[in-house]
Amino acid sequence: MEFGELFEFYLEACSDRKQVTEHLTDLLSSFPEKSVIDCSVGTGFITLDLIQDGYNVICADGSAAMLERFEDNAAAMGLDVKPLLLNWADLAGTFPNVFDLLICRGNSLVYASVWDDDRPSADSGAIVEHLKSMYGALKPGGFLYVDIPAEHKEPDLGGRIRHTPREVRGRMVSVSETIQALPEVGLRRWDIRMEIDDEVFEFTRHSYMLDEARLRHALGQAGFAEIMPLEGNMLRDHYQVFTARKPLVNVMRRFARPVQAVPG
Ligand SMILES: C[S@@+](CC[C@H](N)C(=O)[O-])C[C@H]1O[C@@H](n2cnc3c(N)ncnc32)[C@H](O)[C@@H]1O
Repeated sequence: MEFGELFEFYLEACSDRKQVTEHLTDLLSSFPEKSVIDCSVGTGFITLDLIQDGYNVICADGSAAMLERFEDNAAAMGLDVKPLLLNWADLAGTFPNVFDLLICRGNSLVYASVWDDDRPSADSGAIVEHLKSMYGALKPGGFLYVDIPAEHKEPDLGGRIRHTPREVRGRMVSVSETIQALPEVGLRRWDIRMEIDDEVFEFTRHSYMLDEARLRHALGQAGFAEIMPLEGNMLRDHYQVFTARKPLVNVMRRFARPVQAVPG
């Protein structure tokens, strides 16, 4: 099975698709006629459903493997959507000041450029640099929607998290995962084991350790303001969701004129 398809079984088995879809529908309804990008669209999980429902979302991701699956999914749904293969580092250069809403969701920011890397090491500036690029792609006044793993997924929890087995596309899927801190490389390691009917699949991913304090600090360093947890921001225990805003003030500065002294 290709990785994209395997990852979808994982998502379907571990997330509350209905709840996330309703939540994102609410979000997009608040941005009618606005330019919106999902910059970590992956295989199109949820986002393709939203597009099918008539929402206009530009789709991008930095992983060719994920986008391959995205294209299969879009075709199967009869949607003519072409995703962009785009690293977050190139967002500002490709789309300067373009978007009203930039979505980086589904526990994506923590994987900043280490998603497809088998033996990654941490780059201490990576999160801020990527956030700066997202900032550059937003219009002044535009919003970033971003999430991080829920607190209980902290590595010191140790042990294995077992998700309740669930039927996905007619197959029984059991998922368990171990999350371990790797302080020597500044990352955490996710080992995921899935049983799909009688077949066993395993995959490993590495991510940055990003809690709320670190996220807020990184957002501030990138220039974001109005950093707020989204109300009811725990999505079925998996993600903590935040919004942050690119301030309007830079625009106002452009129009500001030095006050002329009035001759006395
Ligand atoms: C955990 S997956 C989530 C995908 C999707 N949002 C979902 O909910 O299924 C994280 C995604 O972030 C993408 N990603 C990580 N670092 C990236 C980067 N620097 N630029 C673009 N995409 C990146 C990966 O390719 C991957 O598709």
